[in-house]
Amino acid sequence: MLDPKMEKALNAQINAEHYSAFLYLAMAAQFAELGLPGGQQWMTAQYKEELVHAQVLFDYVIERGGRVELEAIAKPPTTWPSGTKMFEDAYAHEQKVTGLIHDLASLALELKDHATYQFLQWFISEQVEEESTASDILQKFKLAEKDAAGLYQLDKELGTRVFVSPTVYAW
Ligand code: FEO
Repeated sequence: MLDPKMEKALNAQINAEHYSAFLYLAMAAQFAELGLPGGQQWMTAQYKEELVHAQVLFDYVIERGGRVELEAIAKPPTTWPSGTKMFEDAYAHEQKVTGLIHDLASLALELKDHATYQFLQWFISEQVEEESTASDILQKFKLAEKDAAGLYQLDKELGTRVFVSPTVYAW
């Protein structure tokens, strides 16, 4: 059985992952508006990945005999002036999520909930990758936005991303 404090914190993380999904879906819409279909595709894949993160947490709470309580998802920003600004925000957002995951792991240790601590290790590794990817693409945008040909090439590269679930989940 989950400690009520852990249950509440995991529910908050489910909400945070759904917010992440919304944020990236909003960025997908903004890339479409900017005429950058590759960026749109990349952000759509990221949106799906965040839904998987939420689902993994959802399933874990239930598996532990806890109660899932979904909350309203906050409205994300809707307008960014450029891909660079979007990836600046994406990188900052992932750093924030890393902090949330680390806080969850600390709480699990404090409560001597070793099962949850072990469960969270996957998220800890996943966040290393999330931050690194956002930071790499941000650097590329900083270079590419100086010339149209570079931006076109980068957009093409982003468009090659195909969503692959980071877990056993099929979607
Ligand atoms: Fe669910 Fe991008 O971290």
